[in-house]
Amino acid sequence: MRKVYVTFFALALMIGSCSKKTSAPTASINAEKIFANDCARCHGPQGVKDERTPNLQTIDLDKAGLIHGITYGKNHMPAWEDKLSAVEISALADLIISWHNK
Ligand code: HEC
Repeated sequence: MRKVYVTFFALALMIGSCSKKTSAPTASINAEKIFANDCARCHGPQGVKDERTPNLQTIDLDKAGLIHGITYGKNHMPAWEDKLSAVEISALADLIISWHNK
């Protein structure tokens, strides 16, 4: 019986340390919060503001296109390459895509 406990404990430790490494970055990312902090001042709270910025709810870009646009910027759109991680940029692209279906 004791052996079972020890094995279970070792297993739980292993799983615990694995999932920590893989899920921590995504779990802590709140794309809505990043958008509100970094993007909304130009794009509006839901990606629609005025004629100076494209309407992100109807923009004709797929996920790769969105990631490219956010990462490298375009004209007055700043590049986010150095400010946000690839995972954060990907989460922002997902957020923008989720608005498309509304
Ligand atoms: C300083 C104002 C400003 C900020 C801050 C800003 N944008 Fe933009 N963004 C723009 C402008 C202006 C354009 C239009 C660029 C063009 O087409 O010339 C644009 C374009 C885009 C596009 C389309 C890019 C393309 O390739 O057509 C996406 C996607 C986008 N922004 C997402 C974001 C996200 C996500 C953030 C926050 C991380 C953000 N923007 C922050 C001004 C801004």
